[in-house]
Amino acid sequence: MNKPVILCVDDEPILLFALKLQLKENFGNQYYIETAENGEEGIEIIDELLANNIELPLVISDQVMPGMLGDELLTRIHNKLPETLKILLTGHADVSAIARTVNNANLYRYIAKPWDPTDLKLTVTEAVRSYFHKKELSEFYKGLEKKVAERTLELERKNKYLNMAVHDLKNPLSIIQTSSEMITNHFDNSDKKQLLEFNSYIFSSTKNMFELITDLLDVNQIESDKLKVRPKLIDIEIILDDLIKHYRILAKAKDISLYFKTDHKSYQAMLDEKMILSVLENLISNAIKYSPYDKSIYIRLLSTETHIRCEIQDEGPGLSKEDQKKLFGQFARLSPQPTADEPATGLGLFIVKQLVETMRGKVWCDTEKTKGATFIVEFPSI
Ligand SMILES: Nc1ncnc2c1ncn2[C@@H]1O[C@H](COP(=O)(O)OP(=O)(O)OP(=O)(O)O)[C@@H](O)[C@H]1O
Ligand SMILES: [Mg+2]
Repeated sequence: MNKPVILCVDDEPILLFALKLQLKENFGNQYYIETAENGEEGIEIIDELLANNIELPLVISDQVMPGMLGDELLTRIHNKLPETLKILLTGHADVSAIARTVNNANLYRYIAKPWDPTDLKLTVTEAVRSYFHKKELSEFYKGLEKKVAERTLELERKNKYLNMAVHDLKNPLSIIQTSSEMITNHFDNSDKKQLLEFNSYIFSSTKNMFELITDLLDVNQIESDKLKVRPKLIDIEIILDDLIKHYRILAKAKDISLYFKTDHKSYQAMLDEKMILSVLENLISNAIKYSPYDKSIYIRLLSTETHIRCEIQDEGPGLSKEDQKKLFGQFARLSPQPTADEPATGLGLFIVKQLVETMRGKVWCDTEKTKGATFIVEFPSI
């Protein structure tokens, strides 16, 4: 690696030679001592050092020189290398030049000519020490800033996953709430089989919640950059069949009919079971949440040679062009409002998109305002 450089600029060749000699004697082991006889030459050397990435801790310049004056030279160097320390040599105490260099070039010291060799040695020793100390500090702070930025990113990530997990607890909870209300309200005129069915919804939703909480406590998953996918061969039709059974209870409370249609093919894909469940739950619960009373929801499963597609079509308010742009963002609360005061945090579709993409699928919405919304999820089939 190249040694750092101390640059001396003076138009008097004898003084320049004396300066170089003294500095070489005292600092020659650690620094190259470069010299220039005028400002222009000084700038050329600086540009060369910059191009070769060579460090310049200190410049010592005479003030009175033909062409560029010392204060102007130091100001120009300061603009290129603000960290470099600058010392001005003045034949007589040129107060205005010193003031200009202090203001424009952050002058470190001025030394009166003829200089005292001991004073020069001490001043240069202190200057280079202070330069490297400042550099160390600035590197330390840069490292610290990097650590803070990394930590902030990690916390944001944790927060995102916590929000997702907490959000997913709401869907099974609303099934539990509605099922228990059904048991209370219809206890006398329900047969045992129906009551047991409601109870089974409570049981399976509680089980779902336990699984979600286990995931939530899985610090590794929360801390990891990516969601952990556990792909296995899944028949989406079976998952949808089960979900629709559960969600019919919620829909019934708003007199909404759920229709499920398939084209009688195979609907198998490599998916993560919990993720696909969460995706479909969010889309079906949205269709119910944003549909007015007494409407229909059509759920279709289609299979092509390469893909499996699920469409969830509702007769709700649909989405404007503006709303569509924000639809899959975090905390997207748009113009459509829940029609029965259901809770809404604006996270569901954000989660859906993350999960679908993690499973190499696509999700989008075909909608026209007033014509209802159709949400479509598509995955590569096996
Ligand atoms: N099927 C739909 N029809 C009309 N608007 C919808 C539909 N689905 C979602 N939206 C709109 O998109 C917004 C975002 O939906 P998202 O599912 O992300 O959040 P949310 O339903 O408000 O809350 P939650 O976090 O409980 O799911 C909703 O607030 C709603 O305005
Ligand atoms: Mg939602």
